[in-house]
Amino acid sequence: MLLNDRFLRACRKQPVDRTPLWIMRQAGRYLPEYRELRKKADFLTFCKTPELVAQATCDAATILGVDAAIIFSDILIPLEAMGLEVVFREPGGPGLPDPIRDASDLKRLSIPDPDKKMPFVAEAIQLTNERLAGFAPLIGFAGAPFTLAAYAVDGGGSKSFSKTLGWMHGSPETFGVLLDRLTETIIESLRAQVVAGAHALQLFDSWGGLLSKDDYRRHCVPRLHQIVATLRPLGVPIILYVNGSSHLLEAMTEVGADVLGVDWRLSMDEVRRRVGPGPALQGNLDPCALYAPIERIEAMVTDILRAAGPVGHILNLGHGILPDAPVEGAKAMVRACHAVEHPGAPRGATGAPGVA
Ligand code: CP3
Repeated sequence: MLLNDRFLRACRKQPVDRTPLWIMRQAGRYLPEYRELRKKADFLTFCKTPELVAQATCDAATILGVDAAIIFSDILIPLEAMGLEVVFREPGGPGLPDPIRDASDLKRLSIPDPDKKMPFVAEAIQLTNERLAGFAPLIGFAGAPFTLAAYAVDGGGSKSFSKTLGWMHGSPETFGVLLDRLTETIIESLRAQVVAGAHALQLFDSWGGLLSKDDYRRHCVPRLHQIVATLRPLGVPIILYVNGSSHLLEAMTEVGADVLGVDWRLSMDEVRRRVGPGPALQGNLDPCALYAPIERIEAMVTDILRAAGPVGHILNLGHGILPDAPVEGAKAMVRACHAVEHPGAPRGATGAPGVA
């Protein structure tokens, strides 16, 4: 049983006593506890070791006192399971030494059975839920099809993702085959995470904002809709997060996700006006706000809470917390959020006892 259901209630637009929050990439290098734990294994081995994953996931949620945990993993894990080599360079981030470049490469991609190719994810989710003991719900996740395609084709991070976008514009049909294979892989990966015990799911479309509105509607919306519609019967809320989302908000609503996660570039009242009353909203403190003095962080959080209103809002950063962000800034964000009470919320709409 969950002792803290604020996050899930907010996803469903039910009243809550305080606005729930979590922080994208909350288990990361900004935390000294994570840096210490990471000495035990290289990044990919870490992701495949349920004991370490459970520890990193629970540490982050308890140190910060947030209202949800997110399973420690990476969006590139399913690409490896599909047959692509993935490496993490330190420093330098993720890379795919042998990316796929055109239709003839598609045969190198299989659609993996998560139980066989990524069993460590389900094991980690089970172990993490045991350790969390209902203290917070657990979010499962996957990269969105276009964002995974961007890594699979450009072979790592990029400013322009010109190879991916070049393929998309040059041969939309074969690029669509790639997106369809990724979509199937994502669906199976997310299904396995829910079966293992994930209470909610987030799709990370970190690079979706590179696309024009028309291209997002053509290439992304139908596949994202397929993911949401296929997983809908599992009964868990689904969050669609897009970075660089300002021009895509209307298109994002067509996906049918329960929650839309947005970056910090528009105020939450403007986002609400644009998307209408349907979905709950998640966001949207500028990740760099955490470097400001505590009073400024508090003021910015209060402004966002006011602009978003008390119902159907989950506070988060507008993108992942940065590796050199001050932990004190993140804790100030949590305190400022939980300090604002919403009177009149029914019993049961509360956080865990002792967790302010
Ligand atoms: O608490 C959490 O959210 C941890 C789980 C998590 C990680 N990656 C761990 C990680 C999640 C949800 C992700 C998602 C992810 N991975 C995204 C989408 C979110 C976003 O920021 O847009 C993307 C684009 C990736 C791909 C990726 N993985 C990059 C670009 C990098 C290197 C840059 C960076 O931010 O560190 C990674 C490595 C990575 N993934 C680390 C962690 C904790 C750092 C690895 C280390 O320990 O050195």
